[in-house]
Amino acid sequence: MKAVWFDQPGDPACLKIIELEQPPMIEGGVRVDIYATAINRADLLQRRGAYPPPKGESEILGLEMAGIITQVGRGVTSLQVGDRICALLPGGGYAESVVVPAAMAAKIPDSMSFEQAAAIPEVFYTAYSNLMWLAHLTSEDTVLVHAGASGVGTAAIQIIKALGATCFVTVGSDRKRDACLALGADEAINYHQQDFADVVLAKTNQTGANIILDFIGAPYLEANLRALALDGRLVIIGTMGGSKTQINLGSLLAKRQQIIGTALRNRTLSEKIRLTQEFWAFATPRFEAKTLSPVVDRVFAFNEVVQAHEYMEKNQNIGKIVLRVR
Ligand SMILES: NC(=O)c1ccc[n+]([C@@H]2O[C@H](COP(=O)([O-])OP(=O)(O)OC[C@H]3O[C@@H](n4cnc5c(N)ncnc54)[C@H](OP(=O)(O)O)[C@@H]3O)[C@@H](O)[C@H]2O)c1
Repeated sequence: MKAVWFDQPGDPACLKIIELEQPPMIEGGVRVDIYATAINRADLLQRRGAYPPPKGESEILGLEMAGIITQVGRGVTSLQVGDRICALLPGGGYAESVVVPAAMAAKIPDSMSFEQAAAIPEVFYTAYSNLMWLAHLTSEDTVLVHAGASGVGTAAIQIIKALGATCFVTVGSDRKRDACLALGADEAINYHQQDFADVVLAKTNQTGANIILDFIGAPYLEANLRALALDGRLVIIGTMGGSKTQINLGSLLAKRQQIIGTALRNRTLSEKIRLTQEFWAFATPRFEAKTLSPVVDRVFAFNEVVQAHEYMEKNQNIGKIVLRVR
């Protein structure tokens, strides 16, 4: 099979397409011809040598894919050859073929293309698990999502609005602001023009946000805690702006605030199966009714993987960057 590979970590130009053996079949698994995969920040880090795959998992980049089942392993009764499915992967998505445990496979709604389906698992499962499992989102909450136009942000806005909660986002441009408002965000704060904590406090009668979803990290921590309400939950899912800083623990105690760190990739298989099944039970009727939609910014051809990585590094995307594999 063809797959994207790199010999030495480095810039996007280190990526090339080579011939590799197909992964072996597993009991309880299905083999899938991949039609589309999507680019994630974790892929950029892995390509630079800063985020190795979990032990024993594929060295090939790619945390999600959509395709057609070509072989069904022993013990699998719920799926058959020809089914269109998508799945979260521990790696191996930038390739023509992959094997996944059947319980991780989600059937793609008929109205959805492979490119759309490949844009779902990583960001929607991340947003769903962080908002629902870790932050215990309810319709009463006000949530601040940083980088609302990002892949994770566009998924989070839609889940928050599906629950009937209030959603504030930060954005780096007016183009992104308009996109977030069109997705249903109640307020979009351009952080180049306004202090987001001041705006959140002003718009919430000085109470603050009950939940903040953040992947900027250190530079935002102080302002995040200022913008966070009494009993608020700050979920940190990335550290794009840096990871070391200082905070005033006194105010954390007084406001009974929780800071929660999380990573999806190293969750156990059984947690990922539970997440897959719970997410699709929540999302399938909403995808079918189009009240929830994957947001695809741009689709690149498989042999344009270098350009796709360069594009993500420019921070211009609104939603997901997809790679059409076949
Ligand atoms: N923990 C987990 O399980 C998990 C899972 C999935 C993703 N993540 C993390 O979530 C983050 C977002 O992923 P994604 O795929 O949604 O990203 P994305 O679509 O590439 O969007 C990232 C956006 O963040 C903003 N940004 C970038 N650097 C920034 C900085 N230094 N300060 C402020 N804003 C910055 C930019 O938007 P603006 O123009 O609006 O500033 C950029 O477009 C990544 O850090 C990723 O690793 C974590």
